[in-house]
Amino acid sequence: MLIGLGLLLASLVARATIKNRHLGGKLLVSATFFGLYAAAALVLQYGDLAADLQAQITAFHPLLLAFGLINISVALALNPWREDRLPDRFPNIVQDAITAALFAIAAMLVLRDRFLAATAAGAVVLGFALQDTLGNLIAGLAIQVEKPFRIGHWVNLGGHEGQVSEITWRATKIRTKAGNFVIVPNSVLAKDTITNYSEPTSHTRIELHIGASYDSPPNEVRATILEAIRDEPLIARDRPPEVLVADFAAYAITYVIRVWTTDFGADQRLADRVRTAVYYAFRRRGISIPYPIQVEFQREWAEPVVDRSALDAAMRGAHLFAALTDHQRTELLQRARCALYGAGETIVRQGEPGSSMFVMARGEALVTLDRSPEPVARLGAGDVFGEMSLLTGDPRSATVSAATDCEVIEIAAAGFRGFLMAEPAVADAICAAAEKRRAELDEHRAVRTDRALASEPARSLISRMRQFLGLSVR
Ligand code: CMP
Repeated sequence: MLIGLGLLLASLVARATIKNRHLGGKLLVSATFFGLYAAAALVLQYGDLAADLQAQITAFHPLLLAFGLINISVALALNPWREDRLPDRFPNIVQDAITAALFAIAAMLVLRDRFLAATAAGAVVLGFALQDTLGNLIAGLAIQVEKPFRIGHWVNLGGHEGQVSEITWRATKIRTKAGNFVIVPNSVLAKDTITNYSEPTSHTRIELHIGASYDSPPNEVRATILEAIRDEPLIARDRPPEVLVADFAAYAITYVIRVWTTDFGADQRLADRVRTAVYYAFRRRGISIPYPIQVEFQREWAEPVVDRSALDAAMRGAHLFAALTDHQRTELLQRARCALYGAGETIVRQGEPGSSMFVMARGEALVTLDRSPEPVARLGAGDVFGEMSLLTGDPRSATVSAATDCEVIEIAAAGFRGFLMAEPAVADAICAAAEKRRAELDEHRAVRTDRALASEPARSLISRMRQFLGLSVR
């Protein structure tokens, strides 16, 4: 009895000191068995029992102690004490199997002849009562041995997709992308096909189908799609995307875009981002996504509808063009085109050649330098950018990307230079603005690299611009 009480106390103290809650649970189970053992010993010593009952309890009560000891020893040996987690190599189900096997050996030693009789009778009763449970249990053990998946893997079990969060004796618990738990009984798993998205590697290929007009040649469509998704961070860098012509369908050429990701949980977000990027890129390149036409009618593939009055208002708001007359503004707008960019898209990329400038008509854009996420400037409706390359022929000095969906008016170099030569006052204003921005960029670069300013003198930049435009150099 004293042994039982001592062990009960020791396991309760151990439970209070360790951090692992799973181990704590096991210690509590053992503590209960030690308590029962102590109670049985007490009854045997002081109770006034019938001889037959006394003999039964005497024969069986050491099993309570044996189970408590085996359970506590296995739990303490296999689980970390200071961390609240299950070890990967010995999940709960395996620990329980080891405990059960050791207990069976102990029972054999303690009960000897009675063991066979007890287990034979018990097996028949249990076999009938626990048919399903035993099926789950054996399938659970098979899963542990075969290891078709582990905790944390993305799987499809019995038609349910999710991340494995727990494997117990009875069932496997997966957490779906919607955040719900689906509990699949192990016996169902044993009969069903299992798809493991996290093995043999974490790469998963996602295929997206998209239709483009027969008017656009496949190579142009392919190049547009690949360029649109070039910088997509959810695409695995080590496996390049592919665009294949999948079908010459009734009203469109169907393309299949194949991209690889290592984050299966984000597959729908990736599909969304790829489709969004492709949409905007198609809009810019004038590639249309046709839809089924049920009634036959002649259709004119017109230019996207542009709200000229909104563009005119944006041009009026641009302080660089504030001095233009209505006629001049209209003339400039006639040489321009409107382009739509989705939030996050790059409009001009630092280091690339540029031959057009832009007026922001709607939205917000960020100017960044040398891949730093910290913006150097924010641009809103009425602001102008891209003038520096256009006026000097230099590569783009910074990256400008859309912070929100942006509508921009793009003015190509050819027409604009002619216009500026006719309007030297506007040329001067733009040159001065470009010069100020160049100084700001140099300052930012100097602060970041902690180096002294090594800027091009203002005079020389302006002269270069004027020279480039073919204006007289002052
Ligand atoms: P460009 O060099 O053609 O391409 C990048 C553009 O970013 C650049 O022209 C400018 O229009 C714009 N830019 C550069 N520095 C600044 C700044 N400090 N403030 C606002 N816009 C800038």
